[in-house]
This record gives sequence, structure tokens and C-alpha cells, in this order.
Amino acid sequence: MCDFDDVKNLLEKRLSKKRYTHSLNVADEAYKLAEEYGENPEKAYFAGLVHDICKEEEPEELKRLILKCDTITNIELSSKSLWHGPAGSCYIQEQLGIKDKDIINAVRFHTIGRAGMTRLEEIVYLADLISKDRDYKDADKMRKLAWSDFDRAMLEAVCFSITSVVKKHGYIPVYSIEAYNQYNYLYLARKKSKEKK
Ligand SMILES: [Fe+2]
Ligand SMILES: [Fe+2]
Repeated sequence: MCDFDDVKNLLEKRLSKKRYTHSLNVADEAYKLAEEYGENPEKAYFAGLVHDICKEEEPEELKRLILKCDTITNIELSSKSLWHGPAGSCYIQEQLGIKDKDIINAVRFHTIGRAGMTRLEEIVYLADLISKDRDYKDADKMRKLAWSDFDRAMLEAVCFSITSVVKKHGYIPVYSIEAYNQYNYLYLARKKSKEKK
């Protein structure tokens, strides 16, 4: 991993003040969630810091980076708003020499999620939605859930993301649908077992 101060300096150059603050907040949140849920806090902090490292990148450079991403889908290629995750995962490998698969995937899938996310990926996904600067309608509800029932929070977070895209008539990558099915299956199975008791 890189020195946090070096990464912060890089982010300050690459991002607007607002996005830089958001990145610091996501990193803080990810650190705390990692402590709570048995992940490596430093890794979570780093992944949180860099998750939006390509958010304000020029489209040509984004395109160059995502074409290197071997897990990219046609739906993602057709939606520019989905480019910064996969582009960021290529950028941190190319420019920062990151080799940790968990960190790479946490950045890669932080916008769309996927089935089979590792705990670190989930933490960054959720931290992005509950960071201090988030002020959407159900942000507080999501925050409470993240600290009381992590799996349920993941289901709600994936639902929230998918619904927001549907409302704007955007495309939903298969990754997100598979993530929804996984967390929903878990939720329904838990509900069923509670009903049996
Ligand atoms: Fe993002
Ligand atoms: Fe973000």
C-alpha cells in the first residue's frame, strides 16, 4: 500500500474540494466499519480514499483505462457514469502499483456492486453511501442499519442504487442485479428461519 499522505496529495490534485472531502469521509467511514466487522482498517481506509480517484478524469482517459479492465460489460461501456469505478481500479494498479485484489475490486465495484463481494468490497460500497457528506432522504436510516445489521444494510443499499438508476431510466449492469438477488436471498432465508422459530 502507499503512504496515505502521498495519496491524499494526489487526490487533492485530481479532485474538486467537494469530491476530495467526500473521499476522506468515505475512508473514515470505511475504517470504522472495518474495525466493527473484522476487516483490515488500513486497507479499508486506503480503498475508501481512492474509490473515486477517476471520478473527474477526462472521458478519453477513462475510456482508455476501462478498455484495459477485463471484467467490463457492454452495459457499463454504454453508461459513462459507470466508468470511474473500473477506470479507478486500473489507475491504482497502473499508477500506484496496487496489487491487492480486494482493494482493486473494492474500487472496481463500488458503484454497481456484484454478487460475492468480499467484506472489504462491501464495506467500501456501504461507506460510500453513508459517509458524513451524504444527505439523501434515507441516509440516516441507512447509517443506523449499517451499524446494526450489515447484511440488511447491503440489501437496502443495493436496492437504493438500483432504484435511483431506474428512476433516471439508466441501464442496470447484470452485476447489480446479481448482487440484489444474493442479498435478497439471504434476507428471505433469514426471515423464513425466524418465522419457523
Ligand atoms: Fe464513485
Ligand atoms: Fe464516492
